[in-house]
Formats: sequence, C-alpha cells, structure tokens
Amino acid sequence: MPTTPARPAESLPPGPAAHAAAARTVHPSWLRLAHWLNAVAVVLMVMSGWRIYDAAPLFDFRFPPALTLGGWLGGALQWHFAAMWLLLANGLVYLGLNAATGRARRKFWPISARTVWADLRAALRGRLSHADPHTYNGVQRLAYVFVSLDTLLIVLSGLVLWKSVQFPLLRELLGGYDTARRVHFVAMAGLVGFVAVHLVMVALVPRTLLAMIRGR
Ligand code: HEM
Ligand code: HEM
Repeated sequence: MPTTPARPAESLPPGPAAHAAAARTVHPSWLRLAHWLNAVAVVLMVMSGWRIYDAAPLFDFRFPPALTLGGWLGGALQWHFAAMWLLLANGLVYLGLNAATGRARRKFWPISARTVWADLRAALRGRLSHADPHTYNGVQRLAYVFVSLDTLLIVLSGLVLWKSVQFPLLRELLGGYDTARRVHFVAMAGLVGFVAVHLVMVALVPRTLLAMIRGR
C-alpha cells in the first residue's frame, strides 16, 4: 500500500495552537525591535542635543553637563549626526511596516475628541481600564500619534539646521534658520515631555512593559 511521505513540520499549515499564539501576541517582534532602537536613538539625540545647546544657549539656562553627551560641541555634533541615521532608518522601517500591514489604522484609528476626553478623565480618577492589551485607549492613541508627528517635525527642522542651503524651501516653510532652531528646540521639549508621561504610565501599568519586551 503506498504511504504518504511525512512532511517536515514547518511546511504544514499553521494549526490551532499557532493561531492561538498569534492571537495572544500584543506586539510583533519587528515592532518591539523598532521601539527599543528608537528609544536608544532618542536618548542619544536628546543628550547630544543638550550639549550642542549648552555651547550657545538660546535661553537663560544651560543643561547640567552630567546629562549631556559628547564632552564638547564637536563631540556632541558627531553623536547627534551618528544617532540621526539610526533614528531615521528605524523610523522609516516603523512607519513603512505599520502602513504596509494596516497596523497603523487598526491601532491608532479612529481618534475622537470625545473618547480622548472621557479616557483622560477616567485616567485622572485612576479608573481607566487596561483590560484588553491589544487595543489602545483614546489617550494612548493621541499620545503615540502626537510623538510620531513631533518626531517628524524634529527631523524636518533638524534637516534645515544641518543642511540649510540644500533645503531652502523647507527652511522658508519653517520660518528661516533662526525660527527652525526654535522649532527644533520646542519639538525636543515636546518629545521629552511625552517620554516623562510615557514612563509614568508604564510604571503605573507594568504589564504593558512585559508585552513590549516579550510580545505578550
Ligand atoms: C529625536 C531627535 C532629535 C532631538 C531630540 C534633537 C535635539 C536637539 C537639540 C536640543 C539641539 C540644540 C538646540 C540648539 O541649541 O539650537 C539640537 C541641535 C541640532 N540638531 Fe537636533 N535633535 C534631533 C534630531 C535631529 C536631526 C534628525 C537632525 C538632522 C537632520 C538634527 C540636527 C541638528 C543640528 C544641525 C543642530 C545644531 C543646531 C545649532 O547649531 O544651533 N537634529 N538638536
Ligand atoms: C526606556 C524608555 C521606554 C520604555 C520603558 C517604554 C515602554 C513602552 C511600553 C511598555 C509601551 C507599550 C505601552 C502601551 O501598551 O501603551 C510603549 C509603546 C510606545 N512607546 Fe515607549 N518606552 C520607552 C521609550 C520610548 C521613547 C523614547 C519613545 C519615543 C519618543 C517611545 C514611543 C513609544 C510609542 C510610539 C509606543 C507605541 C508603539 C506602537 O504600538 O506602535 N517610547 N513604550
């Protein structure tokens, strides 16, 4: 009697166990990798940026040297321009895969003012439910979309500061070199503000940290 040769396991169609595991996954591995690489890039950009700022402060204060990176203006600029490539390449992979897989729409859309307001009030009273880790609430959606747009603004204003002559249209759209420098700074402050709130939220709901590390 002819027998069917056994097929290697990896060529079999995924069974119920594989489907269940996929359904439990909160963050796919590419997303987790992109998130942590972005966190490293942002820390390097902020710390080196603060050193650049200290060399010629825009306002009446300086950042403590212990919180800065690079040792001096030249060193800080080198860190800034090196980490910039990590930020940019990783950001493009994150945005590209989010768009290609339809994840961006599933996770961050829709955002309505009513939901954000209701979720914000519930959060401030300590009553915001995190029962379903697969779905972001209104406040999370708004915060993550805000930081993505804010990072885009940092990159665009950074391009003007870096290659002012090569990007004349962008420079004019951002109000000229001096205004672009202020835009870059204010966007940095927005980013740092986001990270501060982000870390408090993660500390309040540590389960989300496990999901961002191991996927579920
Ligand atoms: C997370 C991303 C970034 C952060 C947090 C950041 C932060 C900063 C800060 C705080 C400064 C000092 C501001 C000042 O004194 O004017 C600075 C300066 C600068 N940044 Fe960034 N930056 C980021 C991304 C970029 C990118 C992507 C570029 C280039 C494409 C860039 C190019 C520059 C340049 C050229 C300067 C020097 C400006 C000057 O001489 O005043 N930055 N950045
Ligand atoms: C070491 C510092 C950080 C920790 C411990 C951390 C932790 C986390 C955790 C646990 C989540 C999932 C939260 C949730 O379920 O709502 C998350 C998501 C996210 N974090 Fe962070 N984070 C850090 C730094 C950053 C930085 C520096 C940025 C960007 C400036 C950032 C941007 C985001 C974004 C955009 C998401 C949503 C990602 C998505 O689903 O596409 N994080 N983070």
